[in-house]
Amino acid sequence: MATTSSSDECPPPPPPSFVPIPPLGVDYRQKIVLAPMVRSGELPSRLLALHYGADLVWGPETVDHSMIGTTRRVNPRTDMIEFTREPSNNNAKASAQKSPESIIYRLDPVREAKKLIFQIGTSDPDRAVAAAKLVARDVAGIDVNAGCPKPFSTSGGMGAALLRTPDKLVAILENLVKHIVPEFQIGISVKIRLLETAPETEALVRRLVKTGITGLTIHCRTTPMRPREKAIRGQLKMIADVCREAGVACLVNGDVENRDHGLELAKEFGCDGAMIATCAEKNPSCFRSKEAGGMETWREAVEKYLRFAMEVENKMANTKFMLTQMVPGREGVYKQMQGCRSYVAFVELFRFDELKQMAKEADRILELGAYEKPPEPKKKVKQVQKENGAGEKKRKREEGDDQEGEKKKQTVVIEEKEIVVPEALGVGVGAAAVSV
Ligand SMILES: Cc1cc2nc3c(=O)[nH]c(=O)nc-3n(C[C@H](O)[C@H](O)[C@H](O)COP(=O)(O)O)c2cc1C
Repeated sequence: MATTSSSDECPPPPPPSFVPIPPLGVDYRQKIVLAPMVRSGELPSRLLALHYGADLVWGPETVDHSMIGTTRRVNPRTDMIEFTREPSNNNAKASAQKSPESIIYRLDPVREAKKLIFQIGTSDPDRAVAAAKLVARDVAGIDVNAGCPKPFSTSGGMGAALLRTPDKLVAILENLVKHIVPEFQIGISVKIRLLETAPETEALVRRLVKTGITGLTIHCRTTPMRPREKAIRGQLKMIADVCREAGVACLVNGDVENRDHGLELAKEFGCDGAMIATCAEKNPSCFRSKEAGGMETWREAVEKYLRFAMEVENKMANTKFMLTQMVPGREGVYKQMQGCRSYVAFVELFRFDELKQMAKEADRILELGAYEKPPEPKKKVKQVQKENGAGEKKRKREEGDDQEGEKKKQTVVIEEKEIVVPEALGVGVGAAAVSV
């Protein structure tokens, strides 16, 4: 008589059933991705990350208020898609006379196709949907930021504040799933931090994975933790298990150094992939596996970054900021970057001779360096400001728009990094050290 082992008696566990990935969306499984980063995740940085092998890229968090009211256009010179809005700021109106609108979000419809996730900052289910609808046709997914710990985000009920208001977070995700998935056929995901205890985190994750989302990223730090504190992995396996059980992809974030490290971590803790922020900000070639050649030098990465920045007409202030992240402080050129105000100046400083012609053209379009327009005479600027001020006040009176100040405050949200901007570099951020 044949003996029956106990394993014969137990049926094998059912194959995990995944929350279906909508046809125009993407599965986060087996992916090493670029994290959402305000300022450091603008288009040229994302293109560079993709160049080095990032599987997906998150755009910088964009607050629903700042997205709502934007106009979508295709830049005829670059073919990039740009979401623009008129600045409500008088100074901007007075000085930016040639191009009065500001670009809130810019993407590459070809190189980022099926790779770009739009991250939204929100505290309201309907506003989230209204903002997401504007961009949903151009991206492969919508992600909700539920991890930003800074007061300017949490005081508006956004970011990490949502971890303390799970009903609201669930309502936001459910509303996005209900209104975005059927119409646009892309997935919804969320990025969270750890709560203080594993049971608290587990209870939250169990609720989130039932909302219909296709992915969840866990930043392995609690809300009060500083970016320089080591990420903690104690709860990671539990979170990955809860996600897998529910068919939701789980990405690990926090102190992931490069592609190979991300894959190892995912394997060790049962996650589906990994997300990299700080290391990718410094040198996005961290997305290239050792097998494919590994990291490039900062010079090689900077040269490619400059190419992408010029190609997409990136703002000089952002380019200069990124270069301060990518060029090591010990390098002689680091200090010299202070004086650079144009693409030609940077290309000459780094001796990237091949880029000279491209830099000239970028400067011409962006009116930098030799093409900079002389400043408007003070008297004229004042006059324009006065007129704009009067017009703006009138408009507010007519529309009863008393929330403008609040909206402006919420426009730019940066999470958690202490970005130390050397005062001497004057990258146009308005403060020597920005704690974000
Ligand atoms: C410059 C910077 C900007 C960031 N902006 C965002 C953001 O817009 N949205 C978000 O969810 N997280 C943001 N973060 C947090 C990162 O996405 C990531 O969760 C965190 O840095 C931990 O990953 P790391 O250890 O690889 O840096 C930002 C981080 C940095 C460094």
